[in-house]
Amino acid sequence: MTRTPVNVTVTGAAGQIGYALLFRIASGHLLGPDVPVNLRLLEIPQGLKAAEGTAMELDDCAFPLLRNIEITDDANVGFAGANVALLVGARPRTKGMERGDLLSANGGIFKPQGKAINDNAADDIKVLVVGNPANTNALIAQAAAPDVPAERFTAMTRLDHNRAISQLAAKTGAAVSDIKKLTIWGNHSATQYPDIFHAEVAGKNAAELVNDEAWLADTFIPTVAKRGAAIIEARGASSAASAANAAIDHVYTWVNGTAPGDWTSMGIPSDGSYGVPEGLISSFPVTTKDGKYEIVQGLDINEFSRTRIDASVQELAEERDAVRELGLI
Ligand code: NAD
Ligand code: LMR
Repeated sequence: MTRTPVNVTVTGAAGQIGYALLFRIASGHLLGPDVPVNLRLLEIPQGLKAAEGTAMELDDCAFPLLRNIEITDDANVGFAGANVALLVGARPRTKGMERGDLLSANGGIFKPQGKAINDNAADDIKVLVVGNPANTNALIAQAAAPDVPAERFTAMTRLDHNRAISQLAAKTGAAVSDIKKLTIWGNHSATQYPDIFHAEVAGKNAAELVNDEAWLADTFIPTVAKRGAAIIEARGASSAASAANAAIDHVYTWVNGTAPGDWTSMGIPSDGSYGVPEGLISSFPVTTKDGKYEIVQGLDINEFSRTRIDASVQELAEERDAVRELGLI
């Protein structure tokens, strides 16, 4: 049976994450090896020529699953009929820019894009925001899309999740595939909290196995939380291939489900679980099935975790208040 192609819109398609992402979408890694895709590349006018170059390269790969590519700088065209939207293009922080300036500049991008999604996307649209500050940009886009169910707007913390798995595997000498049930809580920022208290390493509780709170507090958490800055320092540019890989993982898991006995981390609108104020787009442990996600309930949160979750959630609340004051939500 021939499947109907899925329309996938990528914003910031001519950027470095876009370049690492598009070829993997077109080769079937985003949705599965039997799902054809139409690509819509949304850029600003200055990015169109580079996006055309990337589209030429996509053609030259002759990917069997890639049905067509459209390139545009019009959000209404870019999101027309979109089933999956990856919002990657964002305004980076530049020298001398205050946080309010950054939020305001990104509001100018994510508010109209949220509206264009509201007005043009398919009914089953799923949105992943990658562009920073990802959680708050997702909140801005969501607020501009009142006709789309709020839970379809998600922010990426899968890169942090993958980074944490890798660090824990290195510490314990385990294979990454032996690590399950790790959680990133809060914001995709330096305040995020990678939690190993419920994680398992080859079936054993990770925190008990490591049994080293100093390593947790002084090495593991800061290494994961500041990894983005360390990559920028080392590469002279922010993470690109690993960010694209995490975006692929996020959507693939959302659509195709988490493995039994495991969960993942996604930035999603809070329903009030674990004391996170309702509506904030915060990272939680989630399981996914049939294209839907659910927050893992009933986890004991110890004092060590509580303080750190609260600090990151507090930062999210401050970002929300700032964009509210700017009239962006
Ligand atoms: P980049 O500067 O290489 O590319 C960004 C692209 O977005 C550019 O081509 C630009 O023209 C385009 N763009 C800007 N405004 C746009 C708009 N309104 N509509 C469409 N396109 C637009 O940046 P990058 O390295 O690809 O990173 C993109 C974003 O992802 C940044 O905000 C970065 O901080 C963020 N990021 C997030 C994570 C995460 O884990 N959530 C990880 C890495 C990077
Ligand atoms: C990352 O986590 O690698 C990025 O969010 C860093 C950044 O500021 O782009």
